[in-house]
Amino acid sequence: MSNYNIKHFEEYFQIYRKSVRDPELFWEEIAEEHFIWRKRWDKVLSWDFNKPEIKWFEGSKLNITENCIDRHLRTKGDKTAILFEPNDPNSPAEHITYKKLHERVCRMSNVLKEQGVSKGDRVCIYLPMIPELAVATLACARIGAIHSVVFAGFSSTALATRINDSDCKIVITSDGSYRGGKTIDLKGIVDEALTHCNGVSTTLVVNRIGSDVEMKEGRDKWLQPLLDSASLQFEPEIMDAEDPLFILYTSGSTGKPKGMVHSTAGYMVYAAYTFKNIFNYKEQDVYWCTADIGWITGHSYIVYGPLANGATTVMFEGVPSYPDFGRFWQIVEKHKVTQLYTAPTAIRALAKENIEFVENYDLSSLRVLGTVGEPINEEAWHWYNDNVGKKKSPIVDTWWQTETGGIMISPIPFCTPTKPTYATLPFPGIQPALMDENGEEIKGNQVDGRLCIKYPWPSIARTIWGDHQRYKDTYFSAFKNMYFTGDGALRDEVGYYRITGRVDDVIIVSGHNLGTAPIEDAINEHPAVAESAIVGFPHDIKGNALYGYVILKESGESRDHDNLRKEINQIITEHIGPIAKLDKIQFVNGLPKTRSGKIMRRILRKIAGKDTANLGDTSTLLNPEVVQEIMDNVL
Ligand code: PRX
Repeated sequence: MSNYNIKHFEEYFQIYRKSVRDPELFWEEIAEEHFIWRKRWDKVLSWDFNKPEIKWFEGSKLNITENCIDRHLRTKGDKTAILFEPNDPNSPAEHITYKKLHERVCRMSNVLKEQGVSKGDRVCIYLPMIPELAVATLACARIGAIHSVVFAGFSSTALATRINDSDCKIVITSDGSYRGGKTIDLKGIVDEALTHCNGVSTTLVVNRIGSDVEMKEGRDKWLQPLLDSASLQFEPEIMDAEDPLFILYTSGSTGKPKGMVHSTAGYMVYAAYTFKNIFNYKEQDVYWCTADIGWITGHSYIVYGPLANGATTVMFEGVPSYPDFGRFWQIVEKHKVTQLYTAPTAIRALAKENIEFVENYDLSSLRVLGTVGEPINEEAWHWYNDNVGKKKSPIVDTWWQTETGGIMISPIPFCTPTKPTYATLPFPGIQPALMDENGEEIKGNQVDGRLCIKYPWPSIARTIWGDHQRYKDTYFSAFKNMYFTGDGALRDEVGYYRITGRVDDVIIVSGHNLGTAPIEDAINEHPAVAESAIVGFPHDIKGNALYGYVILKESGESRDHDNLRKEINQIITEHIGPIAKLDKIQFVNGLPKTRSGKIMRRILRKIAGKDTANLGDTSTLLNPEVVQEIMDNVL
């Protein structure tokens, strides 16, 4: 029995049991058989969730790009590694073979080195979904620099915060980006951000849209001429297992974004192993994950997981609605995509459109469908299953997080019987627990609680960049000796897990994690605003949308409310990005608060969701009278 390739349900249970009985032996066997190491580890695992400190494959030496690229050159150098589908459906797709990818990554590595980047330096990558994004990411890994990819939909303020937090010395960007029928001035956003970042000495600029951008003397350099004159060879830097591979920011319920730090060896092993099994990957497949590389899904399941398996991974620059709502299905037909991995919000948006958009295309190449990022509702699950998978392609509802590095709970296709809205069973090596409010583990089935993980897995984030205390407080303090996910979950009668949603002040909008505090901070910057509170409410397509309750200062009371709403959303767009805009803004005279001054969000959530039949106990409020007033004026 090979642990690496799980073929049927019985085998899953055997492998799972083994992974729990002797985790070190289990992971050691996988690491040994499926990767190349410059030096073997001295110790498979050492861990302490109280410190917290977790180390996998300590003492080993490797470079992840050797595993993702070099080792495939001999056997599949001419196979497509990255299949780039541009925004414009009339532009040709680009097939980047493993050989070509090797060349491009080596050239980029040489350019970065020439620009003074070396091992351990942080590099910020702010690019659209074009091949240079994957190439730059891999080049950082090749030279041992730590990449920090920032999703190119974030605003200049959000970008500046991230650049400064990890002290990046170089930014890789493009003149602009295409988004459906529009173009976005990325370079302008970077220029604005860099007025707040003193540590950045160089920006490398990809010419994507051919716009006339201003190049700052001494700082900004066009990338292509540098690549053209760079050498095609670059010896990979040999890294320690625990050297950081990347930083990726995620929202917290309070304060600034958290720079989650992932390290090299464990992340590689876990991303590769989960990819192989959860997507039932086979040699001839054309795998497509529609996420952006600016999110963890793109890191693990567009770049590292697929390439470590020598797969063909599709990178799509555009959006599902351009030139029309058939674009996803047209791409599936054109490239004979075998696995499609997307988000519930995209499924819901496409399900609203005329079914002919789907039926016009031949989707018979599809074998496995995936979903990620938020709970999938039953209706969307069935639509996906019936119309896209034609009831023959299993849906893998994959639950995981930026912090976990890889998929944690998911069906294994053709093994695990699926159940709509259930992520089903833990992947080998993952030991979930449901906890009650008193910190006790809830055993047995048909129970619900707070989802924790009891034992380390190879790709758990090792720290928060520059703030280890926050790492400890956020993930390891709520429950003793456990990693706390921030999610609630239930376990059904057979032990299947269903994720019910966040139990903290993080709201997931269209699959994007948004903390309430940073949005409230942005709103409070408006000169007419005294105070604000944000909650989520159910939305047909986005899953959740944002509802803001805003108290105006006296100076704002007489102002045109519609205008104020626009201005507030403008401030949010500038501070965070358009993804954090509010759908509804209600101006109120007060916010329900406890006697200790804490806003009772539970009540505000119910009002926004029009679920006021049972508001719960309001007697402990400092100001119960505001509740009725807010209810009377709800939007
Ligand atoms: O609440 C869970 C939700 O997304 C959160 C993690 O968000 P992020 O770090 O941005 O990573 C998203 C991509 C891995 C989780 O805490 N979530 C993710 N996948 C699912 C999900 N909720 C329900 N079902 C899922 N399949």
